Amino acid sequence: MSRLLIVANRLPITVSPTEGGVEVQRSTGGLATGLMRPHENSDGLWIGWSGMTAALDPPQQAALDRELAALRLVNVPLSDDLVGRFYEGYSNGVLWPLFHYLLEQIPLQVSHWDGYVEANEAFAEVVAAHYRPGDLIWVHDYQLFLLPGLLRERLPDARIGFFLHIPFPSEELFRTLPSRDRLLRGMLGADLVGFHTPAYLRHFATSLTDILGHSVEIDRVQLPGREVRLGVFPMGVDAGAFASLAADSAIEGEVQAIRGDGSVRILVGVDRLDYTKGIPRRLLAFERMLELHPELRERVRLVQVAVPSRTKVGAYQDFRALVDGLVGRINGAFGTARWVPVHYIFRGLAEPDLVALYRAADVMLVTPLRDGMNLVAKEFVASRTDGDGVLVLSEFAGAAWELPEAILVNPYDVDGSADLFYRALMMPREERRARLAPLRTRVHTFDVHRWVASFLEALGEIAPAESRALATAGAPAARRAVAQRVAETDSLLLLLDYDGTLVPFTPTPELARPDADLAALLRALASRPDAELHLVSGRRQETLEQWFGDLPIWLHAEHGFVSRDPATRQWVPAAEVGGSWREPVLAMLREITQRTPGSLVEVKAAALAWHYRMADQETGARRANELRLHLNQLLSNQPVEILAGNRVIEIRPYGVHKGRIVPPLPPERLASTAVVAIGDDRTDEDLFGALPPEAITIKVGPGETKARFRIEGVAAVRQLLRTLLETGVGAGAGRGVGATP
Ligand code: UDP
Ligand code: G6P
Repeated sequence: MSRLLIVANRLPITVSPTEGGVEVQRSTGGLATGLMRPHENSDGLWIGWSGMTAALDPPQQAALDRELAALRLVNVPLSDDLVGRFYEGYSNGVLWPLFHYLLEQIPLQVSHWDGYVEANEAFAEVVAAHYRPGDLIWVHDYQLFLLPGLLRERLPDARIGFFLHIPFPSEELFRTLPSRDRLLRGMLGADLVGFHTPAYLRHFATSLTDILGHSVEIDRVQLPGREVRLGVFPMGVDAGAFASLAADSAIEGEVQAIRGDGSVRILVGVDRLDYTKGIPRRLLAFERMLELHPELRERVRLVQVAVPSRTKVGAYQDFRALVDGLVGRINGAFGTARWVPVHYIFRGLAEPDLVALYRAADVMLVTPLRDGMNLVAKEFVASRTDGDGVLVLSEFAGAAWELPEAILVNPYDVDGSADLFYRALMMPREERRARLAPLRTRVHTFDVHRWVASFLEALGEIAPAESRALATAGAPAARRAVAQRVAETDSLLLLLDYDGTLVPFTPTPELARPDADLAALLRALASRPDAELHLVSGRRQETLEQWFGDLPIWLHAEHGFVSRDPATRQWVPAAEVGGSWREPVLAMLREITQRTPGSLVEVKAAALAWHYRMADQETGARRANELRLHLNQLLSNQPVEILAGNRVIEIRPYGVHKGRIVPPLPPERLASTAVVAIGDDRTDEDLFGALPPEAITIKVGPGETKARFRIEGVAAVRQLLRTLLETGVGAGAGRGVGATP
């Protein structure tokens, strides 16, 4: 039975030592509150930090162990010094502000990376120690970016998911981080990487492309031997639990107590005291509203709950002073003997008190400058079983994407916010109810249980480790298989792709001429009496003739559309050239080339191709998708197919593909022939697919493949071919490719 191992920096409880024991409190923060119930419902473990750094005496340790065991929690002990560097220094001093676009909070010199690495390694050790084969490991949030990679090294077959609870910033910003490469590589240790919104996923994908040079498809990225899926999973809350709590009669009493006789309208803010939450500008907007609408004085009240958070980080200490000052200023300027405009609570509330406050609010103010999701907004909606209340929501919170019926506000615009706060207070009952109803449906439908289920389902769908291992049999295995097969047989049939297989990709196709080393290698292979060599490329006949015309080998141009037999040296096409589709497609390709600097059109006898290798990576990929869409529409009833290759889109007649060049292989020939095919591209999959299972098929580089083996790149291909030259075919029969003709 597979268990779920939740791994997050913070455990759902925070522990502090007491005389002879420990005190346990519920942790605040969306991650801990949101995942607590799904964890309770599972039979797995939650691995994280208890929030404590002090050394415990034996009775305290025993008390801690009891508390943790009862909740299936595993503590990752972190020393005071490490917490200073990892948690306060790098995670919350650097990553947190940068990922929330608050550059002014970042120190001049980024430091404490060492602590970040050390803590991630400490987590990896604890997770590996508790892991059992079959477990699902789910790593959470920015404190543990390196952990998936560290776990992949220790547990290559484990199924690992990663979810980011905060925004992934624009690549322009992310790339300012000195350790950007290592952070990305760490995340790519996972099988599935999840984000709250499509924008965060897009930023991550652009970073992978621009920083690591990976080509990313919409929902996946290919690594050598492994694929990482990417997905959008907006986190929800336990809406059912909030609704039941809200309907409780004890809560009703509390709501009445807060609202009093109803003569004072209530605005509510609930946040960790964090500079991302927009509390100062919210206070300024509230103040502005009181200035503009004096009639509201003594008629409205802002209840602001600010939960102490990360109090040892300097920026949070300064921030607290700023908020305290603003609250004091507003209360001093507007307060009267019987009215305090801002009711400020600087501590965490228990869930029932929180729900009572959500229920008592006329207007809920959720106005962060930037927030990954913001669960408070969803908890408010779930708690409004009365169908009333107005949500004012920042357009920079991930939740805005899902909750557009809220009053959306730009929190940086203080005057605009003041207007919207006023509008929310004045909103007629009918509109309030009409806006809240769809929000309630959505928050209930996409709750935290559904979120967990959909992430785990996506993780579960990823191919199990055994099938991944098959496709990752690497260069040594390929070389062994080739050597063994060659020793067993009398002849060799070698089918080779050209670009990306025998030569590396170059900015433009003409630059990828065969170098002297390759020419010598092919000549030596071709001169073996028992070797039949086929070069099968997407290139045009003229190019292959010019480069390889003098070699006694088979040449296949345009993916097998036209072939040259070394005996006759005649080029013979496989099908009629032409077709009414060519003109409009060519016009479309020329038009997109004009709009995409660095791209070019290649006109072949049968096919047309659009290359975008030299174009800006993101623009190229976007245009390629656009082109495919238009081509699909244009060519839906034409006898042609559209192929997306390595930074090239090719349109070619149906049925003409590399698979058709495979020579007849009756059983007698197959028994005595070592068949070896090597290629890097999607078009080579047709070749692999057309070969019998005995053939040794080798994929070059990353990506899904039908091939049995995979090797890294051109250098490894050439090394394998050299080994082949040195190995005699049919060692038993005494005739071999290794012998001089
Ligand atoms: N919360 C709490 N006690 C409080 C105030 C807030 O437990 O006094 C919880 C709240 O219910 C919510 C979480 O803290 O689940 C805040 O999550 P959110 O996503 O809004 O922001 P985060 O703190 O994670 O940045
Ligand atoms: C946000 C982060 C969480 C973090 C929480 C509370 O929700 O995404 O990872 O746990 O804030 O912060 P803390 O530093 O107290 O764990």
